[in-house]
Amino acid sequence: MNRTLVRLLRDKQPELAAKGIAWRVTGVATRRLGWIADPEGLNVSDWVGEPSAAARAGVPAPRNTGEWLRAARCDVLFEATSLNPATGQPAIDHIRAALEVGAHAITANKGPIVHAYEELRALAAAKGKRFLFESTVMDGVPIFSMFRDSLPAIQLRGFHGILNSTTNVILSGMEEGLTFEQALQKAQEIGVAETDASHDIEGWDAAVKVAALVTVLMETRIALTDIQRQGIGGLTGEKVRAARAEGRPYKLVCRARRDGNTVKASVRPEHVPLSDPMAWVAGTSSIVYFETDIFPGLAITENHPGVDATAYGMLADFVRAVTG
Ligand SMILES: NC(=O)c1ccc[n+]([C@@H]2O[C@H](COP(=O)([O-])OP(=O)(O)OC[C@H]3O[C@@H](n4cnc5c(N)ncnc54)[C@H](OP(=O)(O)O)[C@@H]3O)[C@@H](O)[C@H]2O)c1
Repeated sequence: MNRTLVRLLRDKQPELAAKGIAWRVTGVATRRLGWIADPEGLNVSDWVGEPSAAARAGVPAPRNTGEWLRAARCDVLFEATSLNPATGQPAIDHIRAALEVGAHAITANKGPIVHAYEELRALAAAKGKRFLFESTVMDGVPIFSMFRDSLPAIQLRGFHGILNSTTNVILSGMEEGLTFEQALQKAQEIGVAETDASHDIEGWDAAVKVAALVTVLMETRIALTDIQRQGIGGLTGEKVRAARAEGRPYKLVCRARRDGNTVKASVRPEHVPLSDPMAWVAGTSSIVYFETDIFPGLAITENHPGVDATAYGMLADFVRAVTG
């Protein structure tokens, strides 16, 4: 993800410069690479980069997130580790550490919103920094920023939609004649599947997205265990093709609706009538339909995004953070 982000930052250099934004990458950290930092800037043309001679000569290599962030002297952290639906880690620790050292924290990882949203939001406010996460739901489509910046004082009563690309690619692939395994392989080849694809197939990724939207936009705490969740593992090619032929295709549908002081939510395969726009959302495309007190039906559809879309969400957050 961050590799695509670096390319996009380069491609968008003229637009960023026009906004007075200059950037350099001063640190890279992954499980395999460990912690690399050079406040003078890394050569990221080959992504890993080579620390400068000065960095190699005197400074010991960082050994943990705090040391790495301080060595990099960063203004912004882009967090894009794999999702852990059960704990939100290690992303929560990374974001907390970045805010503690006075950097903005931008993440594509939904786990921290579900498991630590209030804490991280409060920490960001205390430090005068931003904690932004536009890429976590529907890639880079402006959902959180739309509600925050363009829909003041609105009440969100509920929403429904298709929010997981991998299962939608699998269902579309099976409708076209592929087996479940072939369709999953297709989702993995185009890079939309989670690192652990069972997170998609069993509905965890979709449930975490529902929880993120409920937490932030409906300002209601919801545990993942409170979301009724069923994945698509029980569906076969025959069942999926028969449902489409009968005019009521299967979709993995996410739903949330306010119910008094709580929110009732579900993720499960549903038969969708052809009159519903969800029936025509295929492959990596997604859709969300918001029900608000002012706009009874406000829908956003995203057609066939690539990895650039998610990286764009992080870039847009970057611009928001540094232009304030
Ligand atoms: N792909 C999409 O379309 C998409 C869309 C929206 C949101 N997201 C979210 O974006 C995040 C990244 O997705 P991705 O597709 O880029 O995943 P990915 O290809 O699996 O990359 C995950 C990266 O995180 C690093 N990592 C994992 N655990 C780590 C740890 N404990 N410490 C340090 N580094 C760690 C990995 O390092 P190594 O390679 O060294 O192991 C790898 O570089 C996920 O949270 C995902 O849910 C993805």
